[in-house]
Amino acid sequence: MPPEKQPMALKSLDNLFVHFLRDMYHAEKQALRQMRMLARKTDNEELKELLETHREETEGQIERLEKVFDHLDMRARGSTCEAIVGIHEEAKEILEEAADEATRNAGIVASLQAVEHYEIARYGTMVEWAKSLGHDEAAKLFEETLAEEKATDAKLSKVARKHINEMAKSRSREDAGKGGNGRKAA
Ligand SMILES: [Fe+2]
Ligand SMILES: [Fe+2]
Repeated sequence: MPPEKQPMALKSLDNLFVHFLRDMYHAEKQALRQMRMLARKTDNEELKELLETHREETEGQIERLEKVFDHLDMRARGSTCEAIVGIHEEAKEILEEAADEATRNAGIVASLQAVEHYEIARYGTMVEWAKSLGHDEAAKLFEETLAEEKATDAKLSKVARKHINEMAKSRSREDAGKGGNGRKAA
């Protein structure tokens, strides 16, 4: 089902809740697409594995969103999430411009973290709104998803740290190859 183009009037927390629900339904599907694309672009096995795990989790997250639509007696339908579209555009630019594998991998991790942080922000809000609106089942489902997004973000931070080290090492090797010792003179 293509995302909804017509904006709906936001007059209450109920409206906002549905708006965010549709936004995340679109965002998660885009995230799936991005993860498939990035898994093909990285040569890092750890990152590939992480992407595979989170891709499976994301499929479950989409099912949770569908359950929430179902609880609300609504048809599951997405509306374009401009934030995710922007993050993906930026990711594509980084991939095109990265000159080597280490830089590309660092860029991939950064793009993935931008998505996770967005998801954490949205689901955090939606847990609270679901509670306020008395949608207890939805709150529980969003809490499960939120925990997965936070865990993924933490795993990405771990991979990122390793990459920064790798990049630093390859930089000092390059400097050494140019006849220096990798350090600037004091
Ligand atoms: Fe997600
Ligand atoms: Fe995620």
